[in-house]
Formats: sequence, structure tokens, C-alpha cells
Amino acid sequence: MSGAGDKKGSPGLENAYALETPEDNLRLYADWAASYDSAFAQDMDYVLPLRVAEAYKLAGGVGPVLDLGAGTGLCGGALKMLEVGPVDGTDLSPEMLAVAAHKDVYNALFVGNLLEILPVSDGAYAGAVSSGTFTHGHVGPEALGEVLRILRPGGLAALSINAEHYEAKGFAAGFAALGDRIEGLSHRQTRIYGDAASGSYAGDHALIVKFRKRQDA
Ligand SMILES: C[S@@+](CC[C@H](N)C(=O)[O-])C[C@H]1O[C@@H](n2cnc3c(N)ncnc32)[C@H](O)[C@@H]1O
Repeated sequence: MSGAGDKKGSPGLENAYALETPEDNLRLYADWAASYDSAFAQDMDYVLPLRVAEAYKLAGGVGPVLDLGAGTGLCGGALKMLEVGPVDGTDLSPEMLAVAAHKDVYNALFVGNLLEILPVSDGAYAGAVSSGTFTHGHVGPEALGEVLRILRPGGLAALSINAEHYEAKGFAAGFAALGDRIEGLSHRQTRIYGDAASGSYAGDHALIVKFRKRQDA
């Protein structure tokens, strides 16, 4: 996948960014799951999952942690490499999770829609990570309340948010709406792809947003 543009109807970044609904996402990722790691992540030098995992660890993140929109397991794999765990993963796409299941990374994997209620009890996790899921055509700020719900008091989140998507969907207002239920909100801009990437998306950026759920929230 060059990133410069996909063939009509084929999986790839351009078509992924043009998605509108969870049903669209389900269809695209069912087709993309088998080739995602090689034809996308490897070809595009996709470094964002590692950057998110590093940010989580650096902020003192511990397990159990839930990988939101885990896909084929790249962020969970990076957490494991950094010796952070146990890690569970959830995603809308059973086909993406089936690829992740082969990697011996996750303690548990389950289908879940971040735009609805995840099958997770309140405060179940010490942390949450997400890479590449808060982006065009995928998940917007309406999911932030659900991220907060699954964190235990004091729990840490490290989420990548595509920089253009952050502005376009009003994430600043979304975080403001969480009010005093969160603390330590920070943003850092990072490249989504490494030096080996090519094509029109190669220079794209994401914000890695970190925050903690307040102890009394
Ligand atoms: C670009 S992939 C990122 C996967 C992985 N985190 C990574 O960095 O490689 C986006 C993932 O978000 C998932 N997704 C899209 N909409 C979702 C939703 N509403 N709830 C949960 N996952 C969703 C897709 O199925 C897909 O696996």
C-alpha cells in the first residue's frame, strides 16, 4: 500500500479515512486484516503503535491495560516488548482480532464498539492505550466518556489522535467536557510513519494525548 491512494473498493489508508459508519469499518477491515501488517504497517513504516506504548510506559503506565481498537495487535505487541502488561485488546473487527490472537500478546481479546458500551465493567483497567483508531472515518471524541468509564480511579490513558481529526472533530471540547473527572492532560505531536514511508500520507502527524482519571472521579 503506497499511501498515495487506493484502488476503488480496496483496503488502504485513503479508503479507511473515507469511512463513515462502524458498518463501513467492519467491511473494510474484514478485507484488510490479512495484509494489514505487511502491506500497510511494514510498507508505511508505521511507528505510531510503538510511540503510544512508549508514552504509556514513560508516564508510569502499568497493567492491566486495555488496547482500544487493537486491530492486529501492533500496540499490544509494543507494550509487551516494553514489558508492560497484562494487556487485553478490543476491536470492532473480529477479523483484525483473529490476526492479533496469533501473536501471543494479549491476555484476552474481545469484540467491542467504542461508540457504544464496551463489554467491560466500570473501572476494570489500570490503563488504556489506543493507536490509529481515533482517526478520520473511525472514532471521534464521543468515545472519550467510554474510555474514562473503563479506567479505575487514578488509571492512565495514552491515546493517539490524528492531528487533523483532532481539530476537525473538536477533541479539545471533548476533553473539556470530561471536566474535573480527569487530570494531568497532556498532548505531544508525533509522526505516524517513519522515514521509510512514502506517498501522500507519509508526513502525517498524530497527537499522543495522556490523562489520568481522578481518584475521586
Ligand atoms: C488503523 S486500525 C489501527 C489498529 C491498531 N491499533 C494499529 O495501530 O495498528 C483502526 C482500528 O480501529 C477499529 N475500529 C474502527 N471503528 C471502531 C469502533 N467504533 N470501535 C472499536 N474499534 C474500531 C478498526 O476495526 C481497526 O482495527
